[in-house]
Amino acid sequence: MAQDGSKAGLLGGRSQTRSKSYEDDELPTSRYRRSYDERDSESDLDATEFLDRDPLTSPLAEPKPAFLNGQRLRPWSIRRPFAGRSRCCVGVLCFMFALWLLLGAGGVFVYKKYKEEPRYGLSPPWYPTPKGGIASGWAASYEKAAKMVAKMTLAEKVNVTTGTGWMMGLAVGTNGPAVHVGFPQLQLQDGPLGIRFADNITAFPAGITVGATWNRQLMYARGKAHAVEARGKGINVLLGPCVGPLGRMPAGGRNWEGFGSDPYLQGVAGAETIRGIQSEGVMATIKHFVANEQEHFRQPWEWGLPNALSANIDDRTLHELYAWPFGDAVRAGVASVMCSYNMVNNSYSCGNSKLLNGILKDELGFQGFVMSDWLAQRAGVATALAGLDMTMPGDGLTWANGESLWGPQLTRALLNGSVPVDRLDDMVTRIVAAWYQLGQDDETKFPRQPPNFSSWTNERMDVLSPGSPSPQDKADVNRFVDVQSNHSIIARKVAAEGIVLLKNENVLPVSRQGFTDAKLRVRRDVMRRFTAKRHTGKLKVGVFGEDAGPGSGPNYCKDRGCNQGTLGSGWGSGAVEFPYLVPPVAPLRSQFNTSKVELHEYLTNDPPSSAANDMLEHMELCIVFANADSGEGFTKWSDVNGDRPNLSLQKGGDDLIVKVASKCGSGYGEVVVVVHSVGPVVMEKWIHLPNVKAVLLAHLPGQESGSALADVLFGDVNPSGHLPYTIGKSLDDYGPGAQVMYLPNDVVPQQDFTEGLYVDYRHFDKYGVEPRFEFGFGLSYTTFELSNAQVSPIKTKSALPAPRPSPAANPPAYPTEIPPDSEVLFPDGFRPLDKYIYPYLSSVDDIVTDAYPYPDGYHVTQPLSGAGGAEGGNPDLWETYVTVHVDVKNTGARAGAVVPQLYMGYPQGVSRTDFPVKVLRGFEKLFLQQGEVKTVAFNLTRRDLSYWDVGEQNWVMVTGGQYTFMIGQSSRDLTAFAQW
Ligand code: BGC
Repeated sequence: MAQDGSKAGLLGGRSQTRSKSYEDDELPTSRYRRSYDERDSESDLDATEFLDRDPLTSPLAEPKPAFLNGQRLRPWSIRRPFAGRSRCCVGVLCFMFALWLLLGAGGVFVYKKYKEEPRYGLSPPWYPTPKGGIASGWAASYEKAAKMVAKMTLAEKVNVTTGTGWMMGLAVGTNGPAVHVGFPQLQLQDGPLGIRFADNITAFPAGITVGATWNRQLMYARGKAHAVEARGKGINVLLGPCVGPLGRMPAGGRNWEGFGSDPYLQGVAGAETIRGIQSEGVMATIKHFVANEQEHFRQPWEWGLPNALSANIDDRTLHELYAWPFGDAVRAGVASVMCSYNMVNNSYSCGNSKLLNGILKDELGFQGFVMSDWLAQRAGVATALAGLDMTMPGDGLTWANGESLWGPQLTRALLNGSVPVDRLDDMVTRIVAAWYQLGQDDETKFPRQPPNFSSWTNERMDVLSPGSPSPQDKADVNRFVDVQSNHSIIARKVAAEGIVLLKNENVLPVSRQGFTDAKLRVRRDVMRRFTAKRHTGKLKVGVFGEDAGPGSGPNYCKDRGCNQGTLGSGWGSGAVEFPYLVPPVAPLRSQFNTSKVELHEYLTNDPPSSAANDMLEHMELCIVFANADSGEGFTKWSDVNGDRPNLSLQKGGDDLIVKVASKCGSGYGEVVVVVHSVGPVVMEKWIHLPNVKAVLLAHLPGQESGSALADVLFGDVNPSGHLPYTIGKSLDDYGPGAQVMYLPNDVVPQQDFTEGLYVDYRHFDKYGVEPRFEFGFGLSYTTFELSNAQVSPIKTKSALPAPRPSPAANPPAYPTEIPPDSEVLFPDGFRPLDKYIYPYLSSVDDIVTDAYPYPDGYHVTQPLSGAGGAEGGNPDLWETYVTVHVDVKNTGARAGAVVPQLYMGYPQGVSRTDFPVKVLRGFEKLFLQQGEVKTVAFNLTRRDLSYWDVGEQNWVMVTGGQYTFMIGQSSRDLTAFAQW
């Protein structure tokens, strides 16, 4: 028996795609929308019915060869029986024949494949679910929660765990309340960079931009401002931050929602964001647990297959890379964890007991609640047993049909004893405890009302449950509350510090007065010498590229699902409706001194016309913009199906840069390239061109794009961003593991993470691949020197952490008796809305009483992990064992911020364990005046110094040999060293 439950997991759904800014008939048609609609009829099938259907086609199918009398026919030996007939007719018939062969072969292949039992339910069992309430910091909240839960009826408990259905509330997710004990309906809203589908909010820079700042204070401040807005809009739970995907594949569609391709950086940024969000009383959700590294096949049916892909990860890699940042999040007290769409080791993440019960709740000591990604729950009872606490949006295998896997089904499963009563109590108590923990029982901060905006309409008045066809009265759903405050300041700071200066040959910063007189004289001499052109008068500056301009407005495409105008964010649930977006050209227009500078604009990527060519030849400074976009897999743009098809600039960006560089001032003008991007782009076509003097990688800046860029371009802000990933010379340079799987290799696509730990810079280091720009790289307008690295041992090395402590608090005691049927029947006179998910039953007569087929291993209690014991794991793992100090001096001519980065090398030659050449284990950002020196301290914890030992099933420190600490300004510019 599969440990994650039933074959129900094979069934599918339809797009959640919905935006209030578009009516359906205005939506750009895409193959996804069409196929979702087609699939609606299929979604009612059960798995067996599907298996028996006659599948039509498969992308894997090969056409069958033609045979005659047992001999394979060569194409030239086939007679031409239709010679003399109309060519068109022959062509059509041949085509039909070929199609018939192709479909036949494909059909047989798919049919055979579907007849096979797909691989799932293979991740090891871990039962029972550890109960919440063991951490001292949560003890008071659990005590209050237990009292409240004890007063709830069975139906109320189920209600709290189950979403009410897609579009049944005003937020993207709402669960049910427990009215008579005073527990409200919770309002859940995306996402990681702002309040999705809302008006009058701030469009903050995306996670990848935040990661590029390497600035802990800004990470915190952005989270805090985000939460102030969430609260102001009536949101209890923010669906962010995002630390998974980690960025295994540089072309992965949603990498930009997270903070960069390193677990340590993701961990710090995620934890700071959570602390910021939760300091305002809003619950944060760390997502997506775990290994949702690509969009293709992330979810059943979205990609035509009945199953999501399985990310197959070994235990050590899971711990040291993909689960690592979730550990930081739990340690930071995160209220909620969202499990991902994909399978991990062939069990759906949201029904994977090893992941949820074992790693998250036992080993990491998670005290909050696990919610499913939207439709990521693929089984009912099995997911409850595996550790899921809340299903979102409540719909089961299919969108918006009102048929939940929980809701009334969970009620039944409680009444017939399949789900133990204390499991349900733990589920509800975790949710209620998180609510108390964040102080949301304070009605002055969290009034018990729906949000003051609707995700589904821009009208002031509408129904509260637009997902239901039942007639309803309209209410005041949009109140247009402005929650932006002065958050544009933080947004602008993050955007500016997230800009990475990759190249600068004495051209930046640019003066608003044009070049300085001396510099201008030199430039003009050069140009005069090499070209026939005489440049006099004002400095001639050209701005090129669609990405510099406003395009058709920032909200032109639904969910930002296209690349047009300047790129401020990627697309999908992680995007918001921009209140405004300052395009880069705007501050250039307004800030250059027009008596000294002449600005010419070509806000298009089309090669300039001949008139423009002439103009280009007179330019002295050319600023050219290009970009690369991606997003969530429920929609596509051009050939970007969520994941990018390559790492090239899009919309002809490379050609535009080459063209501008060759023509700007006849090839002697100075060129500044500005790239907006969701992640690394290959720059080989132009990075070495002699007049490409400067390159700025401005990531996804959000609403303050232009202003932040101008801050750096004109030198008001000294650039201090650093790459949160490696820029390779080609996609191949990242290794085979870094390639998105674009075609399925099985009915359940199998994605083996065989590269293990060797992702991003760890891969480049191990295989000696020279990157174009390494992880951590970023220039400044000033220079810094790092020296005098000193080690202060704090604690003695020892292989294993201290024994797991006994819990600091005891989980509440829950009853085990099954409540009476009377607690679950629809209350008298209750008028349900159609398709709305309620916990109630009309009758208990249809409840199945057969024994539930529990998964293998369900009755074997697993040993508790030695790495666990408290929130975030064994507390010893968080103890500082060594501190490394280094002096940092600003040796240049300007003030500016610097990011000393500490990389650690494990002791060599004393263990047979394979270690990466180096791993990031510390960073700080500090601002230094000209000539100023400051000392930075990096505290390394036991976890930082350990590796995950599969045999020990624990974090192990290497006690022999010496750890090496390498400190510098990038992963390859390491200038201060120490050993311990
Ligand atoms: C995404 C989640 C998001 C949810 C709700 C899903 O498609 O994967 O990240 O929070 O939708 O919008």
